[in-house]
Amino acid sequence: MRKAFEFGIIGCGDIATDLARVIGMTPGVRISSCADPDETRLSAFARRFAVKAAYSDSRELMEKERPGALFVGVPHHLHYPLVMRALDLGHNVLCEKPLAITMDRACELCAAARRKNLRLGVNYQYRYDRNAHTLIMMCREGVLGAISHCRCNMPWHRGPDYFASGAWRARKSEAGGGALLTQASHWIDIALEAMASPPVAAMGMTARRRFTDIEVEDLGMGTVECENGALLNVTGAMTVTPHQRVTIEVYGERGSAIYTGPDDFPPASKLRLLGVKKKRYAMPFPGLFSLQRNLIGFSRWVRDGTHYDNEAERSLRVLATVLALYRSAESGRRESIE
Ligand SMILES: NC(=O)c1ccc[n+]([C@@H]2O[C@H](COP(=O)([O-])OP(=O)(O)OC[C@H]3O[C@@H](n4cnc5c(N)ncnc54)[C@H](O)[C@@H]3O)[C@@H](O)[C@H]2O)c1
Repeated sequence: MRKAFEFGIIGCGDIATDLARVIGMTPGVRISSCADPDETRLSAFARRFAVKAAYSDSRELMEKERPGALFVGVPHHLHYPLVMRALDLGHNVLCEKPLAITMDRACELCAAARRKNLRLGVNYQYRYDRNAHTLIMMCREGVLGAISHCRCNMPWHRGPDYFASGAWRARKSEAGGGALLTQASHWIDIALEAMASPPVAAMGMTARRRFTDIEVEDLGMGTVECENGALLNVTGAMTVTPHQRVTIEVYGERGSAIYTGPDDFPPASKLRLLGVKKKRYAMPFPGLFSLQRNLIGFSRWVRDGTHYDNEAERSLRVLATVLALYRSAESGRRESIE
């Protein structure tokens, strides 16, 4: 039997805890080390997930440990320096989204991974949601016909504890953005994949409607134009009461697809087709839900070189789109997507 694929965890906060729970229920993967400068979080994480090698300095972990890959789950502005250091030291990395908060830095990380022949993935796990995968495959195969437009709506709720438990999330210099970048980018990524034509221009607006003492937006809206003229309308909100599920509506010349995202309850996503028949596709990786499939997909990509959808380079498109929406919100003009 093969040795388990080991992850070193950099940052023992909310997402690392979710990921560690998933690792705990996934055969063939384990956590071998962890790091966090917050001693309370570090020791609670190490105790809960029985990790012996716990470091308060992530540089020390990177220098001493040789796991199959590092998982980087830290505030957004730290992705670039920590991932670059990890690559310099020869580690494969699964980084949380966004890869960086500027395009230059995200491109630099992709180039560094390529140069060093290392694997760099970004945790856009919903690409491995069963119905999101079906939607993407059907659009890719042209089942809906030419897409005229798509509406991507994220009507989410966040309470005051969201910013209180992570002050970085409210700061522009650390988070890089709010609802559009931090949460809605998951769904914009899937919508862009369904559009099947590269995004070329964006017009956006942002607002603070519920949280007045934050620097990032809690509501962002905009329209993205694709190369073939199709339009994508996006809304990313953390202002909605009660919390509701994401919808992605894709309208094609032969039929329409209405995707409803997963949530804590009910957990499963849904996909309704109008005018065309739903097709069935085997999931590329086993697993009960998207985070688990993404983890398995990433570890197989590192070990066996099998195809993996969340290679870092593939996350550049959604980052460029969201940053163009922000530029447009500031300039009041239509901005091109580079
Ligand atoms: N994929 C998803 O569904 C999903 C969900 C939630 C968050 N995220 C992403 O995960 C990342 C972290 O978000 P979070 O909500 O877990 O934040 P968090 O604030 O809960 O955790 C971040 C942790 O990083 C630690 N940290 C800070 N500097 C560090 C360093 N130099 N070395 C090691 N650790 C350091 C902090 O002490 C903290 O424990 C962000 O990129 C966020 O967008 C992704």
